[in-house]
Amino acid sequence: LGPGSFFCPNPGVGTTRVTNTHLIKGVRIVDPANDIDVIGDLLIRDGKIAEVGGTIDAPDAEVFDASGLIVTPGLIDLHVHFRVPGFEAKETIATGTAAAAAGGFTAVCCMPNTRPALDSVETLRLLNEIIAREATVRVFPIAAISVGRKSEQAVDFDALAAEGAIGFSDDGDSTRDSKIMRAALEASIRLDKPVMVHCEDWTLLGGAMNEGDVSRRLGIEGIPAEAEEIILARDLLLAALTGGWLHALHVSTARGIEMVRQAKAAGINVTAEVMPHHLVMSDEWVAGDRTLNNTNEPPGQPGEPDDPNTKVNPPLRPVADTAGLLEALKAGHFDIIATDHAPHAEPEKAGSTFQAAAMGMSALEVALPTMLAIVRAGHLTLNEVVRRLTVEPAKLLRMPLGTLSVGADADVCMFDPEERWQVTPESLRTKSPNTPLLGMTLQGRVRRTLVNGEERHRV
Ligand code: DOR
Ligand code: ZN
Repeated sequence: LGPGSFFCPNPGVGTTRVTNTHLIKGVRIVDPANDIDVIGDLLIRDGKIAEVGGTIDAPDAEVFDASGLIVTPGLIDLHVHFRVPGFEAKETIATGTAAAAAGGFTAVCCMPNTRPALDSVETLRLLNEIIAREATVRVFPIAAISVGRKSEQAVDFDALAAEGAIGFSDDGDSTRDSKIMRAALEASIRLDKPVMVHCEDWTLLGGAMNEGDVSRRLGIEGIPAEAEEIILARDLLLAALTGGWLHALHVSTARGIEMVRQAKAAGINVTAEVMPHHLVMSDEWVAGDRTLNNTNEPPGQPGEPDDPNTKVNPPLRPVADTAGLLEALKAGHFDIIATDHAPHAEPEKAGSTFQAAAMGMSALEVALPTMLAIVRAGHLTLNEVVRRLTVEPAKLLRMPLGTLSVGADADVCMFDPEERWQVTPESLRTKSPNTPLLGMTLQGRVRRTLVNGEERHRV
């Protein structure tokens, strides 16, 4: 997997089982990398995919009857916050990777807005040591763009890449200094790693939710869509200037993704991600609405207005944006789906006012069921969704993951598309269950997750 890439094969960690041959029987196999969608058997031997489809016999295997279940490559999330080092009260590598496995994710990339920030080789090395000890799925760190994420001095891009950084980001904040962004984009060319931008104009900040009809109704100061789009425009221009690789994090407005579409059409090297929460939740959720937009699900019981769990950055946008993002996803303008899993501890969320609350949603364990609701509504095929959660993020990582090809590492997600379950703090593995979906019932549940053929989650 290349220097500094971390996978923890420690058989003592988690719920690993000793058997190294698994025969999964009668399962629907969905592998977009190979355009496969069939019902059959799947054989895993010595941590690798050994045989796919048809009826397979393997007398030495541990047999798992998976009729009614769907198996896909392990999901890959390019955008999580695992809070290590510095904010372990919110999440740790152990709890974050347990949540990832419970959500079907076998590889995640963690953001550098830690304390200290992931801006030096020493800090990255410390994190990599913790990952090697505690992680039960693959964890790949993203380094900061600027020292301390302060936009005053660029990091040593080459040294951090050599230490295993898979990309660069000042996520949580934009990089204010355009010259540093230019340097980062120049580095992205020689390192072949993305510059992952959090687009937000720092002078239009201060609000707590999207600026619009709902914020005015609630009397909450808003963040305009333009705060995102102004910086997206700057960074697209810098990508054009340098030829560097810009990855637009959590695009949340219809106009934002239209700008990305135009940039792609003009040959600019830009990739983009959309979050499940921006597809199904609108700013009406801040007022208590619990309609899952772009799905046919019955609305949930209204929530409390000003629920701190609806506060996220970029904020939940108007219903029209959720529809615009879905159209863009259908049209292929989003390369990947990512979660922005942003756990926060009780005092910063449930124990806080909306104004004072931290921004972010706990997302790893609800992402797949959220996307399945969009599939059930007929907007996207399962193949289209799984593709953007497996082989497409693997391509951006430049790693041979996200596939069930024979010989590939056996990273596997198995889920029951019918099972309904209630989202409660107890039903989640994360240390911080700060999602506005709490109390709601979702359909689709991960039953088993394997990494390198080793079991990391089972219910
Ligand atoms: O809502 C958010 N939470 N947006 C970000 O950009 C950062 C994240 C966090 O770290 O909590
Ligand atoms: Zn983030």
